[in-house]
Amino acid sequence: MSKDLGKNYIDHSDKISALGDKPRKFVDGLVPIAASTAIAIFVGVGTLAFSLPQVAQAQNANYGVEITPKWNDKGELLQPTEFRALWVYLGSPFTPNALNNGKAGFPEYHNVYVQPSAFKEFRKSGKWPEGTMMLKELQLVDQPKGDEADGSRYEVSGRGYFPGAVNGMDVAVKDSSRFSETKNWGYFNFGHHAPPYAKSAAAAPAAACAQCHIDNAGEDMVFDKFYKPILTPLPLPE
Ligand code: HEC
Repeated sequence: MSKDLGKNYIDHSDKISALGDKPRKFVDGLVPIAASTAIAIFVGVGTLAFSLPQVAQAQNANYGVEITPKWNDKGELLQPTEFRALWVYLGSPFTPNALNNGKAGFPEYHNVYVQPSAFKEFRKSGKWPEGTMMLKELQLVDQPKGDEADGSRYEVSGRGYFPGAVNGMDVAVKDSSRFSETKNWGYFNFGHHAPPYAKSAAAAPAAACAQCHIDNAGEDMVFDKFYKPILTPLPLPE
């Protein structure tokens, strides 16, 4: 790890602990607003498609989502923006280096987000609609050396692992016309490093991403089981 990254951990963790548990509430509050403006956004995309021929060619009429994947004229996916503010946060599977002989493939929290309309459709039908984007932003452990041999350390809340600097972005897109050979999903890596991430990304070869999802994920390629608490409606108090 470089010294610079070490500084970043501290900066980011300060911001994160200052926010407390606000991000979850913030996203919840925004979901209905995002849904109610879905038609307006859709009209906006249509207008853009007419004014930019290469974008028009790249849109897919079958998308059942309000925030659609955007493609450039080389068929690369443009980096989704504003996912932290406007998308639903599904959860953070976590595989720290300290628990993987010092070399986890992804030694970070895997913060997973999905568009609000895809989230709602999944809750309704158990299916991810065309145009679903699962976005995974990687987030390093704060002070990864920790205080204990397993890399854990102490905060006022107790012994554990705490989130530090963000460190990469992966996106999976459901589009059966583009990715029928890999069970309708395409996989994109926008960099495994501190931001800024790449502006666009070409689909990764099946062996790099899709094959592991085909072999190990659920029927529709997403590891739904890790996001169950958030994909399941909260029972109302009696
Ligand atoms: C060795 C198996 C494996 C490979 C290879 C792999 N993934 Fe995954 N991926 C997983 C697992 C397991 C999860 C869920 C838990 C987690 O994040 O640890 C996941 C989760 C994801 C998610 C969040 C949505 C979901 O499906 O749960 C995205 C997005 C994703 N991977 C993209 C990629 C991309 C892009 C690549 C290639 C650069 C890739 N994956 C390669 C195993 C893999």
